[in-house]
Amino acid sequence: MSARIDWTSTRSAGLAGELVVPGDKSISHRAVMFAALADGSSTIDGFLEGEDTCATARAFAQMGVRIETPSASRRIVHGVGLHGLAASAQPIDCGNAGTGMRLLAGLLAGQSFDSVLIGDESLSRRPMRRVIEPLVAMGASIEAGEAGLPPLRIHGGRVLRGIHCRPPVASAQVKSAVLLAGLYAEGETEISEIHPTRDYSERMLAAFGWPIAFGAGWARLHGGHRLVATDVVVPADFSSAAFFLVAASLVPGSELILRDVGLNPRRTGLLEALRLMGADISECRRRERCGEMIADLVVRHAPLRGIDIPVELVPDMIDEFPALFIAAAGARGTTRVRGAAELRVKESDRIATMATGLRALGVDIAETPDGADIVGGVIGGGQVASHGDHRIAMSFAVAGLVAAAPVRITDCANVATSFPGFVEMANGCGFGLSSIGA
Ligand code: S3P
Repeated sequence: MSARIDWTSTRSAGLAGELVVPGDKSISHRAVMFAALADGSSTIDGFLEGEDTCATARAFAQMGVRIETPSASRRIVHGVGLHGLAASAQPIDCGNAGTGMRLLAGLLAGQSFDSVLIGDESLSRRPMRRVIEPLVAMGASIEAGEAGLPPLRIHGGRVLRGIHCRPPVASAQVKSAVLLAGLYAEGETEISEIHPTRDYSERMLAAFGWPIAFGAGWARLHGGHRLVATDVVVPADFSSAAFFLVAASLVPGSELILRDVGLNPRRTGLLEALRLMGADISECRRRERCGEMIADLVVRHAPLRGIDIPVELVPDMIDEFPALFIAAAGARGTTRVRGAAELRVKESDRIATMATGLRALGVDIAETPDGADIVGGVIGGGQVASHGDHRIAMSFAVAGLVAAAPVRITDCANVATSFPGFVEMANGCGFGLSSIGA
């Protein structure tokens, strides 16, 4: 476990510069997984050097996959084929990563050997029944700890059968776990979603040559094909860009350019929400790269107003609510969030953590079971606990830019899970962020 780090964020006179934020976390996890299972060697460029994605790469190394790191953000993965993984002698530690654990659960359910998946304190509190139930329906044998929590013990050597399922939560992680098990299953696996979620697994399976049919909210494949090595270029992570979109919108005099940001429509709900609030964000050099839409985003300061977040945007901005709450606190009027109960089972209970933190800074916020009402106005100084949640820490760093007095944020080491180098990049464009080893 990393040493504890606290931050202090102070008021900014304006943000300026051009940034390339690190590679997309969701795509980086999947690129390593599919490359490991492919026949042949794949190069991944723009790989996120974060703790979460490095844990996934380590998992495959433990299962006998040779992965080279010729330079930072580049991996060469020597795939072993669909049936070439070997049992790991040690439990596989997914660290803080829900994506790592849930997707691996699907993939490992189809192996001939047993596996154990463990995680850190936060991941050990996250619900796994959502993946266990459909996988068991496919014939998998998985034991979890009490109340369906990690660790997961996955027994190999089972015959999996394809299923048709419609999970009760909109979750790309659940969908991907089922599709990964479906690669090993007899017959057809089909999943339909209560709301469409990010489709990176579907796109990447197709890019690696697996026949798959998919559209918004559904996907269908058959077991028994093979994956063929391919090179992947990972776009900059929209979720990491999000902190800068909110920061530059809030701080008077700001203008930032964010290069090569992934704009998959199932990820960019925050862009729409911020625009509805009055943000000035434009896109240029919009183009396709490796099957994903990317663009440079130019964001300039603009006064924001509170809105009711359209409920249909919620799954498309599920990771961006901590940042949105800060935008709402700095806006004029009230912002209402509903239909976002999933936030309670992320790296922390993000509704409670944000509400407690904002209250500590003098912001008027009322929690509901599935959202919050945030009354914008003056953000004060004070101390907030991130509860080791990377996105909470970065969001309050943004709050400090417009706060009346410094904001101290405790327990920020986990920012390295998704955004290594955040402090340096943020200070490079005008944040006043200092880091204190506690
Ligand atoms: C992810 C899906 C989302 C998201 C997470 C990454 C993925 O989780 O919150 O950060 O890579 O599939 P759910 O699908 O469980 O909502």
